[in-house]
Amino acid sequence: MAKSHVVAKVPSIVSNLLLFGILIATFTTTGAQIGVCYGTLGKNLPTPREIISPYNQNDVKRMRLYCPNNDAVKALRGSNIELMLCVENERLQDIASNQASADDWVQKYVITYGNVNFKYIAVGNELNATGPLAPFVGPAMENIQNAISKAGLANKIKVSIAVYPIILQECPPPSKESFKLDYQPFLDPIISFLVRKPISVVS
Ligand SMILES: *[C@@H]1O[C@H](CO)[C@@H](O)[C@H](O)[C@H]1NC(C)=O
Repeated sequence: MAKSHVVAKVPSIVSNLLLFGILIATFTTTGAQIGVCYGTLGKNLPTPREIISPYNQNDVKRMRLYCPNNDAVKALRGSNIELMLCVENERLQDIASNQASADDWVQKYVITYGNVNFKYIAVGNELNATGPLAPFVGPAMENIQNAISKAGLANKIKVSIAVYPIILQECPPPSKESFKLDYQPFLDPIISFLVRKPISVVS
């Protein structure tokens, strides 16, 4: 029974695939790679351990988690699946204004887990780019990067963001995509962060 449930869930997981593909394509110079978003809000979801097998069966090597989730991250221990973990939007202001908060976040949700293949920390989760939290994204990226660097993980874990698709021109394929000019005030500090940290944009 558990198994058929997992299979039934796969299409809804896969429907998020395109967005994730776009996201990853931004950060790699060797072509897009496939990842699947693992949403943990909902009823009657498969357990985290049950989630891993469709990833392996379908040769999906990347997972995105929308927020820290102890059980989901623990289920990845010892697997080769690369994890993109998002910083929760409600933590952005605190993390942007307080290096110690960024350090705590990285300690609690990343360093704690040995043997998990963290690859990206996405700062914020598809937040409103003209809303009140938008100005905190750039500074929060800086502080998360500082925390990652202090932990000696800068070569392993890249700091990035997950954008809400509304800021894109939406002209696929991803290689032809560009941002709408309206969102330049939101993107400028983020792009300047990425430019100053060239290591962040190379897979
Ligand atoms: C984003 O924030 C702006 C400013 O607060 C607001 O006017 C707009 O409706 C918000 N957009 C969405 C999609 O929530």
